[in-house]
Amino acid sequence: MTTEYVKLGVNPETDAAHIARAAEIIRDGGLVGMPTETVYGLGASAFSAEAAGKIYAAKGRPSDNPLIVHVSEPAEAENIAYVSPLYYKLAAAFMPGPLTVIMPKKDTVPSSVTGGLASVAVRCPSHKYARALIRAAGVPIAAPSANRSGSPSPTTAQHVLADMDGRIEMILDGGPCEIGLESTVIKLTDDGCIILRPGAVTEIMLARVCGTVEIARAVTDPAEAGEKPLSPGMKYKHYAPRAEVVLVEASDDVFEMYVKANIAPSEAVAVPDDLAHRFVGLSTLSAGQTASATAQSHSLFALLRRADEIGCSRIYMKLPPASGEYLALYNRLIRASGGKIVHVT
Ligand code: TXA
Ligand code: MG
Repeated sequence: MTTEYVKLGVNPETDAAHIARAAEIIRDGGLVGMPTETVYGLGASAFSAEAAGKIYAAKGRPSDNPLIVHVSEPAEAENIAYVSPLYYKLAAAFMPGPLTVIMPKKDTVPSSVTGGLASVAVRCPSHKYARALIRAAGVPIAAPSANRSGSPSPTTAQHVLADMDGRIEMILDGGPCEIGLESTVIKLTDDGCIILRPGAVTEIMLARVCGTVEIARAVTDPAEAGEKPLSPGMKYKHYAPRAEVVLVEASDDVFEMYVKANIAPSEAVAVPDDLAHRFVGLSTLSAGQTASATAQSHSLFALLRRADEIGCSRIYMKLPPASGEYLALYNRLIRASGGKIVHVT
C-alpha cells in the first residue's frame, strides 16, 4: 500500500479537504496517522473490529494490549462507556487534554478494541486537528501511539512515516507534538483514582478533583515477569531504542565526572542544551532546551530515535526525580533502560 502523506497548517482550505479525506478512510475501516498534543496516534474507527485488527498488525502489537478511544467532546464518552459523575468532574478540569480515563465499556465497542477487557480507555485530545478528524469521521477513533511496537512513540509525522510507511493509508502532518509523552491514564475507584501511566496531568492536579489519588506500583517499578499488571501495556518493554540507556543517579557535577570517566567513542550523553557546555568534545544528544520537565518530556522520544539514527550503542542520561511533573519522564526512562539505574555518589 502507498501511504499518502499530507502537511496540515499550510492553507485552511486544503486542510479541510485533507481532513475530510482522512475521515473517509477512517469510516471505510482504514488507518490514519494523526497528530495529538501528546504523541502521534494511529487512528481507526473504534466501532470496527476489523480496523482494530489492522492497527495491531500495522504496529506488530500483541492483541491483548487495549487501545485508547478518542472522542471530540467529553460527553461523547457516553457512546462507548458507562460514565460516572467523577468522570464529568475530571472532564471539566482536564478535557480536552492529556488525560485518559478507564471506565466500564458499552457493547458498541468491539472487544478486540479493548484487548478483550470489559473496560474502555477514553480520551478527548486537545489538538485541533485530532478533534477536527474525530468530528469529521463521525465515529470515535481508536488510536494507540503510531510507532511499531517496542520503539519510541512518534512525536513528529516523520517518525510516523519512518515506522508506518506502506502499512497505513494516510499520515496527517500537524507538526511536532507539544507535550511529547503520552497521556496520563487513570482508572476510577470508589473514592478517587489510580494512575496507571503518568503524563502531563499530574498526581497533584488530579488530587484537586479526585480526593484520593494512588499511583500504581508499576509506574515506578518495572513489572516483574509473570506479574499481572492493572494495565496490560505495563507488562511490555516499551520505548526501547536499540542503544542501551544508562540512567545515572547523581548530581550534575558527579554525572559529568561519571560520564567523562566511562564514555566510549560509539556512546553519547543526553543532556539539556543549557548543560551541553560541560561535555564539549563528546557526542551529545539534546534532551531539551533546558533541564525543565516540560522541555525534557517534549524531547525524549526524538532523542531516543536520534540515538539509533547515529548508531549510538549507549546513551548516558541523568535520572530525573520520580515525582511531581518529572514522574512521567522518569517512568518512560526506566522502561527505556529496562529498569537499570547506576547510583554514583
Ligand atoms: O497520549 C496518548 O494516550 C496516545 C495518543 C495517541 O492519544 N495514545 C497512547 O496509546 O499512548 P497506547 O495504545 O500507546 O497506550 C495506551 C495505554 C496502554 O498502556 C494500554 O495498556 C492502556 O493504555 N489501556 C488502554 N485501555 C485500557 C483498559 N481498558 N484498561 C487498562 N489499561 C488500558
Ligand atoms: Mg504506545
